[in-house]
Amino acid sequence: MQKKYGKFYGVGVGPGDPELITLKGLNVLKSVPVVFVPVSREGKDSYALGIAERYLDFSKQERIDLLFPMKKNQAELIPNWDRAAEKVLEVCGKGMDSAFITEGDPFFFSTFIYLYTRVIKKVPRENITIVPGVTSFCASAAAAEFPLVHGEARLAILPSVYDMDKVEEVLEKFDTVVFMKVNKVLPQLLKKIERLGLKNQLVYVERCGSGEERIIRDPEELKKLDANYLSLMIVKKH
Ligand SMILES: C[S@@+](CC[C@H](N)C(=O)[O-])C[C@H]1O[C@@H](n2cnc3c(N)ncnc32)[C@H](O)[C@@H]1O
Repeated sequence: MQKKYGKFYGVGVGPGDPELITLKGLNVLKSVPVVFVPVSREGKDSYALGIAERYLDFSKQERIDLLFPMKKNQAELIPNWDRAAEKVLEVCGKGMDSAFITEGDPFFFSTFIYLYTRVIKKVPRENITIVPGVTSFCASAAAAEFPLVHGEARLAILPSVYDMDKVEEVLEKFDTVVFMKVNKVLPQLLKKIERLGLKNQLVYVERCGSGEERIIRDPEELKKLDANYLSLMIVKKH
């Protein structure tokens, strides 16, 4: 007899505002008996859980934390992804439905992808559902009232901007550029943008949608900023 697996959902809970969870995501979160929560350290708060917790009831639902430490070296993270996938497979294998909550969208620069690629090898595709979430860059553009692209304009998204030579190249080819993970490179990036004559055409958004949201357009203020990891910058040429 074929094994009966539970359903597994990857739910994007949006960038920070609990009202930006989709109705579909909300229905899933309220219905599943098991919720997987990503944490970067044992006992540490989860940003995704902070967004979704008002919709969850851990007196009735089981919470399982999955450890994904913040490390730059991806190879060091493989054992964590493997362990997380094993836990998900264990729950699915018992025929129980579960959901993994993830900040923003599950398929947009998300740790969830490493989990998904492992789980899909074992669990039938029809048992897996990805519930999209509002991405940080869309929410940031909306919060800052900074339209991203229209008409024929082209948009580029850089996952991190450690190679400063690429910045110039990308800004030449695209009309709007979203720089993710800018916190560590903000001064260098600002210098580059200034040199390209675009310093008055940018917006920096930090912790978008949360109570600590910051929107900064002034490059001088940005130069002095101690930027948070949850931050991005959008630059628009026209
Ligand atoms: C690992 S990626 C996660 C992206 C997420 N899955 C999404 O859909 O936006 C982390 C980066 O996303 C951006 N980010 C995530 N949440 C954010 C927020 N609330 N405000 C601003 N930027 C955010 C930052 O650039 C951060 O370094």
